[in-house]
Amino acid sequence: MTCVKIVSLLKGSFCHLLLVIALWLCSYQNVVALPLLPKPGQIPSTSELPSSPDSATFQPIEISPTMIPHYPFHGEPLPPMYPSFPKTYDPVLTGRCPVNFSVISSITAKTASDCTQSLSTVVGNVICCPQFNSLLHVFQGFYSNHSDTLVLQNAVADDCFKDIISILASRGANSSLSSMCSVKSSNLTGGSCPVKDISTFEKAVNTSKLLESCSTVDPLKECCRPFCQPAISEAALQISGIKMTLSDNKNIVEVPSEIDTLNDCKGVVYSWIARKLRFEDANTAFRLLSSCKVNKG
Ligand SMILES: *[C@@H]1O[C@H](CO)[C@@H](O)[C@H](O)[C@H]1NC(C)=O
Ligand SMILES: *[C@@H]1O[C@H](CO)[C@@H](O)[C@H](O)[C@H]1NC(C)=O
Ligand SMILES: *[C@@H]1O[C@H](CO)[C@@H](O)[C@H](O)[C@H]1NC(C)=O
Ligand SMILES: *[C@@H]1O[C@H](CO)[C@@H](O)[C@H](O)[C@H]1NC(C)=O
Ligand SMILES: *[C@@H]1O[C@H](CO)[C@@H](O)[C@H](O)[C@H]1NC(C)=O
Repeated sequence: MTCVKIVSLLKGSFCHLLLVIALWLCSYQNVVALPLLPKPGQIPSTSELPSSPDSATFQPIEISPTMIPHYPFHGEPLPPMYPSFPKTYDPVLTGRCPVNFSVISSITAKTASDCTQSLSTVVGNVICCPQFNSLLHVFQGFYSNHSDTLVLQNAVADDCFKDIISILASRGANSSLSSMCSVKSSNLTGGSCPVKDISTFEKAVNTSKLLESCSTVDPLKECCRPFCQPAISEAALQISGIKMTLSDNKNIVEVPSEIDTLNDCKGVVYSWIARKLRFEDANTAFRLLSSCKVNKG
């Protein structure tokens, strides 16, 4: 998308100002390109619709399918200016993911609306995938919140991943999210990262620094002079046990397996952060981090 290119040009001195302009242009473009669609993440105001969709799109998602409310527009005429909302249905869950999904329903609803089938092809990488990744990080922190580990075991990760995809699809999200965003259930397991339990993590990492850097992410500062992103990378490096090689005065990790381990460790760091923050705050922070990454190409 052109707006990504615009933003990627903005590494120079007028970073802040230009970023504002670029973000404005990007949102302007989206509005122009998609005039009939509600802006992702934004609930259409009640004045635009005969009846409020809030109660429909943001109902808690229960594990038991019988508790999922049906979409109230069934059988009712749709508002004239709106394309049809994605149809929702009861997801079929594995029953083996021991999580009360209704607790994180605000984030699953947001993800589904950011990843609706009609939107995903247009803005998949820019809007849908960052939100989907963020949901997975939040989920991982949520799942592990009452245990002493920061990751999911392989089998339960498979089941929970399937359930998440089913819930999102049932709310209108594109069901090929996983391949579209290159994420798998193994992303919830910590992969090859050697540290997966909370006590080892907290011994290895300066957690107060990490929390301080990431508990509030300022969109403009983070994109131009990042605080949280380097804190995450540093923590990931510390738990990875990888020794950096010094070359050209820059720390570089080049061995492919080490790059994988570092990425896996980043997932563990995200999970730790997600445990410490409210869902909404964690989601906002993670979204901002990936939009900066996307913008920087
Ligand atoms: C799941 O969480 C919701 C709200 O957070 C709560 O009302 C409900 O009782 C919980 N369900 C179970 C089975 O614990
Ligand atoms: C889902 O997304 C993929 C990749 O962007 C696209 O090819 C496919 O058509 C989408 N599916 C639907 C039903 O929109
Ligand atoms: C984890 O649990 C604590 C208290 O037990 C709570 O304040 C926090 O919001 C929870 N975080 C997640 C991600 O569930
Ligand atoms: C998921 O894991 C793959 C490798 O298995 C990695 O390339 C990708 O960056 C991970 N995605 C996230 C969001 O962590
Ligand atoms: C952790 O980081 C903070 C800076 O945010 C620093 O003041 C403190 O000394 C560090 N603690 C350790 C044990 O390195």
